[in-house]
Amino acid sequence: MTHRIGVIGGDGIGPEVLTEALKVVDAAGVTYDRVDYDLGAHRYLEDGTVLPDEVLEEWRGLDALLLGAVGDPAVGVAAPPGLVERGILLRMRFELDQYINLRPFRLPPRCDFEVIRENTEGTYAGEGGFLRKGTPHEIATQGSVNTRMGVERCVRFAFDRAAASERQQLHLIHKKNVLTFAGDLWQRVFDEVAEEYPQVSTGYDHIDAACIHFVERPERYDVIVTDNLFGDILTDLGGAVAGGVGYAASANLNPARTGPSMFEPVHGTAPDIAGQGVANPIAAIVSAGLMCDFLGEEAAAAAIATACEQPDRYSGSTAEVGDAVAAETRAALG
Ligand code: IPM
Ligand code: MN
Repeated sequence: MTHRIGVIGGDGIGPEVLTEALKVVDAAGVTYDRVDYDLGAHRYLEDGTVLPDEVLEEWRGLDALLLGAVGDPAVGVAAPPGLVERGILLRMRFELDQYINLRPFRLPPRCDFEVIRENTEGTYAGEGGFLRKGTPHEIATQGSVNTRMGVERCVRFAFDRAAASERQQLHLIHKKNVLTFAGDLWQRVFDEVAEEYPQVSTGYDHIDAACIHFVERPERYDVIVTDNLFGDILTDLGGAVAGGVGYAASANLNPARTGPSMFEPVHGTAPDIAGQGVANPIAAIVSAGLMCDFLGEEAAAAAIATACEQPDRYSGSTAEVGDAVAAETRAALG
């Protein structure tokens, strides 16, 4: 079966790392039709384009999207900072209903856990606004949107992942001692769904305590479920704990498959090293492996995952690492 994959290289090191990711997908024997989209901060600075409606509509017909990284500090000079990131990444996640952000940090013995981040709600939903802006009495509010439907589908996905994992363990991470409304809803939904999964052992930690556990005893965790903002922060920390954000992969999933899912490394565009051929492509390669898995290419996905075990063993330029992982992927396929 030939998959239709939309490729958004983006800015900075994005295109470089995607070249290697697709090299490895080819080595894994997956066939696909590739549709390239020239989007990102560079495009915005060129002609003001962020994400045209027609492009978003076209994406609905694709099987998956692979994204390098988007953004450039230069955008924040003339326009609000993050305009491109919000206009592409957040809009895509929301409009294509990619409600799960799955970020695995499975690099034993250093760490072996994964974070399931709710990806369409919370403080990211854009609720809030200004009153009396620009005056000494101005007010800015930024609400957190938590729907029962949104929380429940995320929590259910997390329980399914935990039930399929070896340790069968799931932690809810929140700040329910202070965020008493949102935290209460998350905990109640979590407890309700838990009754359907008696084989999964459950726990709860506050986000601040979880940060300590990540650094001091990451073995505490197997599968973690949390909201959008806590998940964003915790997964950068996860990347650092796992040996650097250069290894951190992510899948923005629409598990209902009403639209394509999107796969991207957690890292950004790293403009300081762009174009030098020194960026670490591992996170992009692992993300492409997650894409293969979601497309039902299980053998390819397993081979890529095997090749990316102990990523410290790879060194050299971006292309050299890509070549080496591609060779290991072929070897793993036998
Ligand atoms: C991420 C990024 C994005 C987020 C930004 C760029 C909007 O930090 O994918 O973690 O916060 O979700
Ligand atoms: Mn982030």
